[in-house]
Amino acid sequence: MKLIKQLLIMMLLCLPFLNCTSTKKEEPKTTLKDALSGKFLIGTAMNSSQIWGKDTLGVKVITQQFDAVVAENCMKSMHLQPKDGEFDFKDADQFVDFGERNNMFITGHCLIWHSQVPAWFFTDTVGKDVSKEILTERMKNHITTVVSRYKGRVKGWDVVNEALNDDGTYRNSKFYTIIGKDFIPLAFKFAHDADPDAELYYNDYNEWYAGKRDSIVKMVIQLKDQGLRIDAVGMQGHIGMDYPNLEDYKAAMDSFAAAGVKVMVTELELSALPTPRPNVGANISDIEIYRKEMNPYTDGLPDSVATAWTNRMASFFKLFIDNSDKIERVTLWGVSDADSWKNDFPMPGRTDYPLLFDRNHQPKTIVSTIIQEAKKNK
Ligand code: G3I
Repeated sequence: MKLIKQLLIMMLLCLPFLNCTSTKKEEPKTTLKDALSGKFLIGTAMNSSQIWGKDTLGVKVITQQFDAVVAENCMKSMHLQPKDGEFDFKDADQFVDFGERNNMFITGHCLIWHSQVPAWFFTDTVGKDVSKEILTERMKNHITTVVSRYKGRVKGWDVVNEALNDDGTYRNSKFYTIIGKDFIPLAFKFAHDADPDAELYYNDYNEWYAGKRDSIVKMVIQLKDQGLRIDAVGMQGHIGMDYPNLEDYKAAMDSFAAAGVKVMVTELELSALPTPRPNVGANISDIEIYRKEMNPYTDGLPDSVATAWTNRMASFFKLFIDNSDKIERVTLWGVSDADSWKNDFPMPGRTDYPLLFDRNHQPKTIVSTIIQEAKKNK
């Protein structure tokens, strides 16, 4: 009995210490969003399984590491308005709720894009191209309905996506062939009318090509001259191990900043795989036939390639951090390597390693490298 009493007294005396150790939390590790705060937002694209919370590990990384989100697919016109006048906001509503619940900067992607647009948008009941007036009305209705729905909640919109060729000429899209160059200012006007407080962006890939870069600068200046709002140019970062060179990327950033807009680095990922053709771009219809020799790392990246990948991604982040006065946001095009569209582009069925988190959602070395670089610059 005496022994039991002594044991009880000892336990009571130890309780505060036991308690202390059992509830002691791990020292919180610095996250990307903490390290980069004050420089630029760090964002990610979300796929539908993350939007609906099915990919719990992905969602955990998103909420811990990022402070900005964009929907990878569900806000494209073919998803939002599959039939004329019939809108489907199920996924988009869920996405915007997610962003708000987690205090994130929400970007809407994208209002006017030649791709992933339903066929009805351009045709009449017998399949012929509609007139300029009808297409303009359809653009207006689509933009007004979508932007108004998320007024004050979606903070910025990719208003026009990928309207130019790499040489700077206009892409021969239906928007261009039916309406002409005016489809761009019209889209910006409709978006601004629907939510005057929303930021508005032009977004494209391969903007490091001088022709494309210079045409975008011209477009920005013309939009501003017409009294239209444009806040930033989105520079899609679909980069590879051998393209683009850093100087060309920086030259494009500098040109956009000099034209009086901010830069958003959007859709960033770095393919670790061999490039099957020069000028890969991001045009989803430009697919190559599978060749085994173009898929060399199915069992993981060799150390030398992983190191080269880390160094190259680090040099891009150093560029972004050094130029953070021009950059508002850097957004990765997905969370883990398994999520990336690059596993199927430009060649379907490959195993790529383009993002910051591996297939088990573990941070790669690059995450701490970015955090260190950001801390150096605090
Ligand atoms: O949702 C269907 C699913 O129901 C079906 O089972 C599956 C079978 O293939 O396809 C699913 O849809 C795919 C969708 O991604 C979701 O995974 C589409 O086929 C596929 O075409 C679509 O690809 C997206 C592509 O845009 C086209 O919209 C990529 O995920 C997305 O990363 C990519 O993103 C674009 C940017 O919006 C603009 N810039 C270029 C970038 C890369 O193309």
